[in-house]
Amino acid sequence: MKKLLVLSAFFVAIVIAQSCSDVKRNPNNAYMPDMAYSRAYETYADHKELSDSGIFYNASPVAGTVKRGDEAHYEILKDTTGGYNASAGLQNPLPALSAENMIEAERLYLVNCGICHGAKLDGKGPLVVRPDGSDGPYLAAPANLIEPSIQSGIYYKMSEGTMFYSITYGKGQMGSYASQVSPKQRWMIVHYIKSKQREKSAPATAAPAATDSAKAVK
Ligand code: HEC
Repeated sequence: MKKLLVLSAFFVAIVIAQSCSDVKRNPNNAYMPDMAYSRAYETYADHKELSDSGIFYNASPVAGTVKRGDEAHYEILKDTTGGYNASAGLQNPLPALSAENMIEAERLYLVNCGICHGAKLDGKGPLVVRPDGSDGPYLAAPANLIEPSIQSGIYYKMSEGTMFYSITYGKGQMGSYASQVSPKQRWMIVHYIKSKQREKSAPATAAPAATDSAKAVK
C-alpha cells in the first residue's frame, strides 16, 4: 500500500513537472474559427471599415423585408419630400377603436407625446410650458393638434397617413418615435388624435370614436 502511494506521488510529480515545461507548443488548427472566436460587432464601429475587411454589417434590415410579427407593415420608406407627400394617401389599417382601446391609445399618447403636445393636444406640454406658466426647457413649438384655426386647420386636414409618417420618421424639430411606439401603437395614437379633433369640432356628438364601434383592435 505504501509502495503504491509512493509510486502515485512519483507519477503525479512527473505530470506536474511535464506541465511546467517551457517547450513552446503550437495549438492545433482551429476548425471554423468564427465559432471558436466570436467576432465582436462593435455597435458604433465604422461600417465601411467592417465591410472593407469582409464583414457584411450595415445595421439596417434588407429593403423590402418584414419583421416577424409586424402587423401593420409600413410601405412608404423614408424620403424627405416624396415619402411625406405620398403618406397622405395611406389609410389607417386599424378599425375604429373600442372604448377600451381608446383608453390605451390615450395612455400611449400621454406617455409618449403629451410631454410636448400636451394632455389637451394644444402643444403646451410640460416641456414647453411649466405648470406655473413659465417657459419650459423645450424651445421648439410642438404642433397644436387641437386648435382648428392653427395654420388654417393644417392638423385637422392632415391625413392619418401623414401623421403616421411624421411619428415614424420625425418632422422638422420633432424626432422619430419609431423606436418608442410600435406601428400598431402609432396608428392607435393617430386614431386618438383624430377622435379628439372630431370631439372638438362637433361637441354635440362628443366622443363618437370611442363608442361608435364595438370592434376591438385585436
Ligand atoms: C420632444 C417634443 C415632442 C414630442 C415628445 C412629440 N412631438 Fe410631435 N412635434 C413636436 C414639434 C416641435 C413639432 C413641430 C415640427 C415642425 O413642424 O417643425 C411636432 C409636430 C408633430 C405633428 C405634425 C407633423 C407634420 O407633419 O407637420 C404631429 C402629427 C405630431 N407632432 C405628433 C406627435 C405624436 C403622435 C407624438 C408621440 C408619439 C409626438 N408628436 C411627440 C415635438 C414633439
